[in-house]
Amino acid sequence: MPSTGDLKREAAEAALGYVKPGMVLGLGTGSTARLFLEGVARLVAGGMDLKGVPTSLATAGAAKDLGVPLTSFEERASVDLAVDGADEVDPKLDLIKGLGGALFREKIVAAAAQQFVVIVDESKLVPRLGVRAPVPVEVHPFGWRFAAKSLESLGATVDLRRASGEAFRTDNGNHILDARFPSLASAERLAGQIAAIPGVVGHGLFLKMASTVLVGTGKGVRTLRRPGKPRRKS
Ligand code: 5RP
Repeated sequence: MPSTGDLKREAAEAALGYVKPGMVLGLGTGSTARLFLEGVARLVAGGMDLKGVPTSLATAGAAKDLGVPLTSFEERASVDLAVDGADEVDPKLDLIKGLGGALFREKIVAAAAQQFVVIVDESKLVPRLGVRAPVPVEVHPFGWRFAAKSLESLGATVDLRRASGEAFRTDNGNHILDARFPSLASAERLAGQIAAIPGVVGHGLFLKMASTVLVGTGKGVRTLRRPGKPRRKS
């Protein structure tokens, strides 16, 4: 019986098939993205010319440790291929991301990618978004209580994310509110409502962004594709 780690590795290894020499790669955050990064490090060690744009300080540190060259996103407006994990994937390939706290940079890099490939184990597939994961909402610390109240008025139960007893801080110095909605029937409408709350810096609804989702199943990788060219939306 393969472990969740095995399934994540299966998906991460399959994503290496999308990597071509000379590419600039968006490097995601989290345990599955880390496995992809290890594969990229192998390709680099084998002589492939690749550069990465990290989506978090943790990924930047890991890339340096593994010998994957990085380039600054401040010097470019796009990447060739972004590869990242997800917390939930629905049948339309819409996602919830951000349980790892890196959603703000992850969304920018995914939106800037010619191709956004998501790598997950099969436990991440859900019939509709929000059945398990909350929607992480990154908020500026100044307005977090107001943002929490505003999310509650949209029907959410809201928790300020904590780490070691303190309010969690993202790489951008912000807090995260984990918002659970009893029904997330219209994710698109909700995404707009959340984004419109003053103080909200970003949220974990990644809608119409993924071009491909690679699912580790233990019986081979399932490839799910969004038909047509994805429209980029938050
Ligand atoms: C980080 C993320 C991660 O991609 C997501 O939490 C999945 O993590 P893992 O691969 O460890 O299950 O969105 O912000």
